[in-house]
Amino acid sequence: MFSQSDFTYMERALALASRGMYTTTPNPRVGCVLVKNGEVIGMGFTQPAGQDHAEVRALKDARSRGKDPRGATAYVTLEPCSHFGRTPPCAHALIDARVEKVIAAMEDPNPTVSGRGLAMLRDAGIDVRCGLLANEAHEMNIGFVSRMTRRRPWVRMKVAATLDGRTGLPSGESQWITGEDARADGHAWRARACAILTGIGTVREDDPQLTVRAVDTPRQPQRVLIDSRLDVPLDARILDGAPPWIFHSADADPARADALRDKGAELVELSNEHGKVDLPAMLTALADRGINELHVEAGHKLNGSLLREGCVDELLIYLAPSLLGNAPGMFDFGPPATLDARPHLKFHRIDRLGDDLRILARFAGTHGASETR
Ligand SMILES: NC(=O)c1ccc[n+]([C@@H]2O[C@H](COP(=O)([O-])OP(=O)(O)OC[C@H]3O[C@@H](n4cnc5c(N)ncnc54)[C@H](OP(=O)(O)O)[C@@H]3O)[C@@H](O)[C@H]2O)c1
Repeated sequence: MFSQSDFTYMERALALASRGMYTTTPNPRVGCVLVKNGEVIGMGFTQPAGQDHAEVRALKDARSRGKDPRGATAYVTLEPCSHFGRTPPCAHALIDARVEKVIAAMEDPNPTVSGRGLAMLRDAGIDVRCGLLANEAHEMNIGFVSRMTRRRPWVRMKVAATLDGRTGLPSGESQWITGEDARADGHAWRARACAILTGIGTVREDDPQLTVRAVDTPRQPQRVLIDSRLDVPLDARILDGAPPWIFHSADADPARADALRDKGAELVELSNEHGKVDLPAMLTALADRGINELHVEAGHKLNGSLLREGCVDELLIYLAPSLLGNAPGMFDFGPPATLDARPHLKFHRIDRLGDDLRILARFAGTHGASETR
């Protein structure tokens, strides 16, 4: 159904989409390539929210080069939108430009608009195909798909551990377990996330800044702290710079809350029946704030709570070739009553970074591209 050149142009559109990796949030990363008579006449990728989407950018690019998009084929990594949001619908722009054919990688995951953009194009007499390199397109926007279909971000939990799964010494000393390559790679994953989350234990022990430093990024992700009683020290580094969001329970002291607000922090109270933060509700709250991908870097206690409550989609584990013996592990939970009851994952990718291994594993039942297609 698709030709070799279709694959080549869609790969180009995907490469363009990846240029919006750090900037399109909360919108999806989308790329568009316009091809006419075997020549690429326009290219674009989605700009920061409120600015041009990929299709409009590609049409403007073609016109700026003196090329007429009439009769062209548009390769887009996501179904063109059909609704007026902060910008007019891209489907209109393609219809007005009188392109002849549109090839989309995947439908819009938003159930309220899915398929409408493609229908609008078909109704205008445009030849429309969908599904080319759909897996790759889904991976590119795994967080956006999650937010649209499940009203929660895609949750990626990062852990650096020794080969025996230990994350630090009982004294709290944990820096550094992995090598420089792995640590820089960890920052690249931080950078692509919309938000980075940690727990009060990690803030107490490590006083992390929770920012992206080892790679260039045009924007810092939102920082999020889980701190039931608002114990975070007022001089903690997470309170410096852009205001963090702190999720706490009803048990928190109102005077502490005032002091933290004075420091600029944004507080969100979400309690469960145990007087702790309601973690599933927190994911909904983050989705409602436009968080597509959430990167977790916490200690074994919060990691365990998140796992137990089904709040994790993917593990990003760095394994160093060393051992720590009877030291804290990655996740404080269980053990399950039977082997059958243990959580199951699938290895998604395994790579070597310097002396360390990087493992990306997904929980069975999460909506990763490989499970849905
Ligand atoms: N190697 C790595 O990849 C890595 C990454 C990060 C941190 N660490 C290490 O981990 C150590 C800290 O571990 P940790 O387990 O103490 O820190 P943590 O997991 O970051 O935070 C622990 C705190 O989270 C809170 N918590 C757990 N479940 C909760 C829930 N449902 N709602 C609200 N709060 C909840 C608890 O606070 P309350 O008791 O107040 O409820 C708990 O004390 C440090 O030594 C740090 O270096 C290692």
